[in-house]
Amino acid sequence: MKGLILCAGRGTRLHPFSYSQPKTLLPVANQPVLFYCIRKLIEVGVRDIGIVIHPSQVQISGYVGDGSQFGATITYIEQESPLGIAHAVNISQPFLQDEPFILLLGDNLLMDSLHNLVRRFQDNRADGIVMLSEVEKPQDYGIAEVHEGRLISVVEKPVVPKSNLAVIGAYLFTRPIFEAIASLSPSSRGEYEITDAIQTMIDRGSFIAHTTTNGKYTDVGTIERWLEANRWMLSRELGEKLAIGEGSVVQHCEIVGPVLIGKGCHIENCRLGPYVSIQDGVQISNCTHIENSILLENSSIHDVSWQMKDSVFGRESFFKGSSDRKASMFILSDKSSIQLPSTGGDSE
Ligand code: G1P
Repeated sequence: MKGLILCAGRGTRLHPFSYSQPKTLLPVANQPVLFYCIRKLIEVGVRDIGIVIHPSQVQISGYVGDGSQFGATITYIEQESPLGIAHAVNISQPFLQDEPFILLLGDNLLMDSLHNLVRRFQDNRADGIVMLSEVEKPQDYGIAEVHEGRLISVVEKPVVPKSNLAVIGAYLFTRPIFEAIASLSPSSRGEYEITDAIQTMIDRGSFIAHTTTNGKYTDVGTIERWLEANRWMLSRELGEKLAIGEGSVVQHCEIVGPVLIGKGCHIENCRLGPYVSIQDGVQISNCTHIENSILLENSSIHDVSWQMKDSVFGRESFFKGSSDRKASMFILSDKSSIQLPSTGGDSE
């Protein structure tokens, strides 16, 4: 069995952070989202993995390399135009050949393992399997209709959804998927939809099984969902603990875990947490309280006398100073700098 991870999406809802980096490299608990996808495949014994990237996303191969750091072999496949998931699968056929394959969306974070997906495939001799999860906004997803335990239809972003069971970003397919894709036309958003390909398989008599996960799932497609994924992963990895990387100095701080601090950071006189992840080389001093936030590499925050939460500080960004306008939520893009005029005696 092979694995295919799609990373070529544009990530427009994650600007400004996805300007300088593909969104699949954005860190969740200090690890790129993509790394979790690779590890999920390896967990079920899939080591021959294709990653679909846009030709401009050279950073991905810089981070992942040939896969040897994970014990996997990675093949990069270029998708020049964002023509949809089914299109990405189609251009990957020379890599996938005739083997069954697990398809993952590289910006999706799935807390459950893929064991059930693989087990159902082996037990049911299905032509394909989809993983389903209940969602709050079914209009935003491919939605499944299940009748007497059998998947009978999937519709992409239906205006009137037949259920709240979404097809989430984990699928297992066999050869008939390529014949189904070959008969597709682009959808109203101009993409070749994987949901349409699945429906075509069902219409042609293929058996598509499903497995439902109660585990948490999100696509890291907006700042809110990125922060949410970060909270889940920090809780899972650390519980309520604090983890401090090599060479980091943390002094005169009150910490409420989970808080993850990378290497070579200097943090003093502040209250941190819960749910804060701090990448390598970050400097923080004299901050009243930072909560539920992500601080990217080499960012600096100093002398802030109010509570900052739900914030993301970009790589090498700089923030200093107090203000009467105590906005709590900050999104600072990479390398940006804000220095507020001192109001005098405000900070500790
Ligand atoms: C894509 C799929 C959709 C699926 C969703 C899961 O949507 O087209 O069927 O439910 O991923 O995240 P998109 O992210 O392209 O809107």
